[in-house]
Amino acid sequence: MNVLVTGGAGYIGSAVARVLEGEGHTVAVLDSLVTGHRAAVALGVRFFHADTRDKAAVRAALEAHRAEAVVHLAAISQVGTSVREPRAYFDNNVVGALSLFDAMLDVGVRDIVFSSTAAVYGEPDHCPIVEESPTRPVSPYGDTKLMIEQVLARYGAAYGLRHACLRYFNAAGALPDAGEDHRPETHLIPRLLQLAQGRGEPVSVFGTDYPTRDGTCVRDYIHVGDLARAHVLALGALRAEGRVYNLGCGGGFTVNEVLTAARKVTGHAIPVAYGPRREGDPAELVASSARIGKELGWAPRHAGIEEILASAWDWMQRHPLGWPA
Ligand code: UFG
Repeated sequence: MNVLVTGGAGYIGSAVARVLEGEGHTVAVLDSLVTGHRAAVALGVRFFHADTRDKAAVRAALEAHRAEAVVHLAAISQVGTSVREPRAYFDNNVVGALSLFDAMLDVGVRDIVFSSTAAVYGEPDHCPIVEESPTRPVSPYGDTKLMIEQVLARYGAAYGLRHACLRYFNAAGALPDAGEDHRPETHLIPRLLQLAQGRGEPVSVFGTDYPTRDGTCVRDYIHVGDLARAHVLALGALRAEGRVYNLGCGGGFTVNEVLTAARKVTGHAIPVAYGPRREGDPAELVASSARIGKELGWAPRHAGIEEILASAWDWMQRHPLGWPA
């Protein structure tokens, strides 16, 4: 299938693009390069430098690639920044998605896999979180993703847009040729690994008084390659009624457990400080991914935190300064 991957120069998008190509799809990438990296797009993959809010450019890309489906990841995605800059988030994410869906309908592309997030659940009542759990985002970022899910549900019913929404938990790790390079970096794993490399800012563990096994937050880390494979499966099973799937490993590790594993994998002491909680961080976010397992046969292949860290460490050692400009 000819697939247009929006946000395909980003961390998760570049992995999705590679896995789709590996499964025999013909991929083109559309990315504004505001947070993505041109070098993250594999050689030979057609690239469109455009913002999803530029409807004419998106339409032209869909037509030039003869796209049959879209995987839509393009978004800005920092939870904390979204609280301070909600305008940018609603504009980039929601207006961008509406513009993309319009362009798709204009040219008759009706299949889409949408990149959603665990942030739609906010502070959950129970873990593991199932897809029927209440959606109560606590950040504008989570709001934007939930709003787009709602738009897709309506567009599926009205216009036959066949869609699946994948709610990612904590994407981590790397493929041999696609890794994580955010600037600035805010995520726990790359920040710890940068310290092991002797660069990066000091890391503070955000909160030690959570009601968890060691007082630090529990997150469900999922290998980016496992995440990417789920897009391939979702693409093969789209329907107008839409489907929402959680994507996590169903386990969960505390910040201290990730730190211990990072020290073991890198052989580096990785000094950290222990500080106050970060606003908006739930104590525990762990997914039930039973639905996608049952319906699409998906299961994580790399569920161990050391294995996930080792893949990220391997990529970072081969790209010590991230992607080239
Ligand atoms: N953490 C620290 N110190 C740091 C960075 C993170 O202690 O310097 C902790 C956080 O408090 C959290 C865990 O490490 O408990 C993971 O934090 P990340 O920033 O790596 O990831 P988040 O869980 O905050 O966010 C991720 C995605 C978001 C998504 C969210 C879903 O990056 O896009 O999961 O809740 F919205």
